[in-house]
Amino acid sequence: MKNTVVVGAQWGDEGKAKITDLLAEKADMVIRYQGGCNAGHTVVYNGETYKLHLVPSGILYGDKICFIGAGTVVLPENFEQETSELISRGVDLSNLKLSPLATITMPWHTAVDGWAEDTVKKGKIGSTRKGIGQTYTDKMARCALKVGDLFDEETLSEKIDIILPLKNKTLKEVYGLKEYSKAELLEICAKYKQIFEPYVCFDWQKMLRENKNKTVLFEGAQGVMLDIDYGTYPFVTSSNPIGGGAGTGSGYGPTMIDEIVGVSKAYLTRVGEGPFVTELLDETGDKIREIGHEFGTTTGRPRRCGWFDAVIAKYAVLVSGLTSMAITKIDVFDDFDEIKICTAYKDKRNGKIYTEYPTDVFMHKYLEPVYETHKGWKCSLSNIKSYDEFPKEAKDYLKRLEELFEIPISIISVGPDREQTVYV
Ligand code: GDP
Ligand code: IMO
Ligand code: MG
Repeated sequence: MKNTVVVGAQWGDEGKAKITDLLAEKADMVIRYQGGCNAGHTVVYNGETYKLHLVPSGILYGDKICFIGAGTVVLPENFEQETSELISRGVDLSNLKLSPLATITMPWHTAVDGWAEDTVKKGKIGSTRKGIGQTYTDKMARCALKVGDLFDEETLSEKIDIILPLKNKTLKEVYGLKEYSKAELLEICAKYKQIFEPYVCFDWQKMLRENKNKTVLFEGAQGVMLDIDYGTYPFVTSSNPIGGGAGTGSGYGPTMIDEIVGVSKAYLTRVGEGPFVTELLDETGDKIREIGHEFGTTTGRPRRCGWFDAVIAKYAVLVSGLTSMAITKIDVFDDFDEIKICTAYKDKRNGKIYTEYPTDVFMHKYLEPVYETHKGWKCSLSNIKSYDEFPKEAKDYLKRLEELFEIPISIISVGPDREQTVYV
């Protein structure tokens, strides 16, 4: 297998973890390059379900190096919970490595995220409340703590002296939230150090160099439409899930990447606020949610559901540099008489047709989807093992998707299990 990036091509929850877990079998190393525990990645293996948040979805094999890269943010308490749960279920974490350059989510980040979610009415993001945006903001503002800082007393003390007065001022005066003393913060940091100690990899340069000629899989979180630069801004996350993110967040440059596999569901979902042109607010949307079990892995929120949007898929192919697409959850349509695909948007005000994604998302309220309708296959796809076994209607649907997003479909997923996968 070539070095491959797995990228969500929609608004997250496309089934990236299932595809990463599958491809990881042939990889030596899996690197998570961005995001934090806002991600909820489900891997079903041997009838057991594992919900991962920051730990790369190759961890269940045991023998793959699983590296959490510099582009990620780490909420220590969640990381501790995730790792101890995996250990208690017998998963071997001796190959789990954490970059000292990953940014720490501090208690004020989650506090401010919660404050914003509870206070802001107009323009609310609907975040996962994990302090993601606030951590990345401080990283960019150059006043964040990195995992490595915890391991040198002098550096930590010096950094706290720089950060704390500014933090306390904004916590108190802007948000009316709890302030911290230096002693209190040092105690918190000592606890965080303990949590990270078994995993932090100060030798990461050596490790990456040694694996340079082996097979590396890069795991994206979230999806292209949640990308800070290319997504439905401001209703996005605060990192770069696109393929390019693997070039900055992993520790390897873009020259290490051979292929970028996009993951799309056969329909669309979104959690949180923001525009969604093909959203179904009727019983068809409810039917997709029910059959597809579309409830958030991290927050349990019901996911908004809608038809496949080829305008978005084509956009994802472009901005993420996708070389092939994995289509998941096609089995959710087994009982549908008709399936729709959105091929363009129409502006209700003037009839203008858009086939390229309009990036000004504040005008999306004026857009309606232009649909074409496909006949359903009305039989179960869950046990299909090869492409030839798909009924004609399913093949026609898949062929049409391929035609619209202009890259080949490489994988079709017909159920959550590893075995429920068809390679094309
Ligand atoms: P991720 O965040 O992209 O990794 O996706 P999630 O894990 O949040 O959500 C995908 C859900 O769909 C999980 O519950 C998976 O077990 C499930 N899943 C993945 N592929 C398939 C599929 O082909 N069919 C069905 N029915 N479920 C799937
Ligand atoms: P995976 O990796 C779906 C959404 C949130 C919100 C927006 C910003 O499982 O696909 P944040 O907490 O990141 O500041 O929230 O992004 N969001 C996701 N939606 N899947 C995810 O991850 C998500 N991570 C964040 O719902 O709309
Ligand atoms: Mg998810």
